[in-house]
Amino acid sequence: MSETKEEAKDVGRAKYSLGRVLRISGPLVVANQMSGSGMYELVRVGKDKLVGEVIKLTGDTASIQCYEETAGLTVGDPVQRTGAPLQVELGPGILNNIFDGIQRPLEVIAKQAQSVFVPRGVDVSPLDHTIKWTFVPGEVGKGDLVSGGTIIGEIDDKKNLLVKEKIMIPPNLAGRVQSIVKKGDYTLDDTIAVLEDPSDSKKTVIIRLSHYWPVRIPRPCKMKLPPKLPLLTGQRVLDSLYPSTLGGTCAIPGAFGCGKTCISQALSKHSNANAIIYVGCGERGNEMAEVLMEFPELKTKLKTGEEVPIMQRTSLVANTSNMPVAAREASIYTGITLAEYYRDMGYHVALMADSTSRWAEALREISGRLGEMPGDAGYPAYLGTRLAFFYERAGPVTCLGSPDREGSVTIVGAVSPPGGDFADPVTASTLAIVQVFWGLDKKLAQKKHFPAVNWHISFTKYERPLRDHYKDTMPSFLKDIATAKKILQDEKSLQEIVQLVGNEALSEDQKITLDIAAVLREDYLNQNAFTDFDYTCPLVKTSGMLRNLIKFYEQSIKASKNDKKMTWGRIRRLLDPIYEELTTMKFIIPGQEEKAIQAELDARLKKMNVAFSDLSTQI
Ligand SMILES: Nc1ncnc2c1ncn2[C@@H]1O[C@H](COP(=O)(O)OP(=O)(O)OP(=O)(O)O)[C@@H](O)[C@H]1O
Ligand SMILES: [Mg+2]
Repeated sequence: MSETKEEAKDVGRAKYSLGRVLRISGPLVVANQMSGSGMYELVRVGKDKLVGEVIKLTGDTASIQCYEETAGLTVGDPVQRTGAPLQVELGPGILNNIFDGIQRPLEVIAKQAQSVFVPRGVDVSPLDHTIKWTFVPGEVGKGDLVSGGTIIGEIDDKKNLLVKEKIMIPPNLAGRVQSIVKKGDYTLDDTIAVLEDPSDSKKTVIIRLSHYWPVRIPRPCKMKLPPKLPLLTGQRVLDSLYPSTLGGTCAIPGAFGCGKTCISQALSKHSNANAIIYVGCGERGNEMAEVLMEFPELKTKLKTGEEVPIMQRTSLVANTSNMPVAAREASIYTGITLAEYYRDMGYHVALMADSTSRWAEALREISGRLGEMPGDAGYPAYLGTRLAFFYERAGPVTCLGSPDREGSVTIVGAVSPPGGDFADPVTASTLAIVQVFWGLDKKLAQKKHFPAVNWHISFTKYERPLRDHYKDTMPSFLKDIATAKKILQDEKSLQEIVQLVGNEALSEDQKITLDIAAVLREDYLNQNAFTDFDYTCPLVKTSGMLRNLIKFYEQSIKASKNDKKMTWGRIRRLLDPIYEELTTMKFIIPGQEEKAIQAELDARLKKMNVAFSDLSTQI
């Protein structure tokens, strides 16, 4: 087929000959005359120049997954190669921004298109190249040898008090600095530094404020490190019973309406990560709209007491269920690459992916259309490998280049098994990969027990590093957690006894266990995210509440066993106000100074101890 004049112009510009659409099957486009193209090469399909990625090559035909709606595409339409893989632009302007799955800035598109929909084939630069950023050079100067990852300066952004953007030499570049600019205002197009090419001294490499990185290739680091610091989520059940680490991998599987999105959002808002990448992957549009409405309003308090919007540390990658399925995969890879970029600056980054099941479904659809042999439940046989490859990009690392610094990427992936059946292939494969499993329970959600984390199936494999971390600072916290877990376990078997032979068969300490387990569940693990006292819970409150609860439990057991042999009924009657106080600890407002929270909980403990010692004088 001959090329039109317009197409021929494009060919001249792009250096590659045009392929032709041969077949269209939903998001999958097969094109011929594509010899020479590479796997995962980015192509522009049709007259609208839809963005697509080559995912299979046979002879001179290429199968392309299209990230945009393919309706209207016809056989014979041109396919333009770009010679580059799908990549993201990394530089200042990522935070406090919202992108679609292939890093197109949604706000800019909305302004440009004057429409609520993203027009097909729209071509805008991911980051704004008109903004002038104040670049402040670091210690690197003329004549210095620099390697990939080395920080050459930072952006002085008075508007962002949460994350200081560092400017790094891209990981794949190195050389001797020929020149570097002075402090001043520069756009992303300006030259910031010029390096002498190490292989050819006549050639130079230009460093700008931003660079591109292919999303499917993990950004390199010097060394992967074992996890050691806790990820504080602000959710009591997670921080105490099933904690994760900065750099950990966590999965939140749960049926429809169990609270996966609420947990992901709570983590984005209140966790102790320095930067957050929130990937809305194939979920309902209203959830993403909720995030967009809510996040810009939320503020966090700095040590100086100043309140700053959390969006300053957040970037949103929005891909909703009505967008083309293939873009789900792109959104996951875009998200993780953005996260790695901030990790490389030496930050702790948390990536939330809601939900990885929708991505797996997209893989299944594309695989089906490619005619691949289906595996379990129709998912492709490589599902587990793909998931593992994604989760493997998490972890604490020593960053490339100088100065020496450590960063981490934590991945929290929501999984939505159909009908809440955890035997589904996506949940089962994820379970085999992640180190922390927060299994949500339909029954708990129905009872309005939120977060509906089931304490019988959830687990964490980070107990050892966290034990080392808390060993010196909070040794009693670890003991209390172990006791709480034991109480919850015992409750299950005791309930079975009660069901069989009734309450009377229980010993006094068993009755205590049952009642304290109820308090533990209802007033400690239960945490309503929509209240002003429980939207988050700082670690002092989490550990202090648990300490008081366990102290009450232990002292009650002791009182029931001493020479007076008091019954639990009597202890409870005599200590009623103290027992009541156990259930009101959650009302302590989390926004206060840590010291105030600690003082309040300490005062309650003191009162309890006095009451128990008075108890021993009772007849
Ligand atoms: N921590 C919480 N505190 C209070 N209510 C909660 C909490 N978590 C969930 N809920 C309630 O459960 C509802 C459903 O939660 P959410 O949307 O997070 O579920 P989901 O698992 O993401 O569901 P889906 O599978 O449909 O995406 C929320 O609208 C809210 O009313
Ligand atoms: Mg959800």
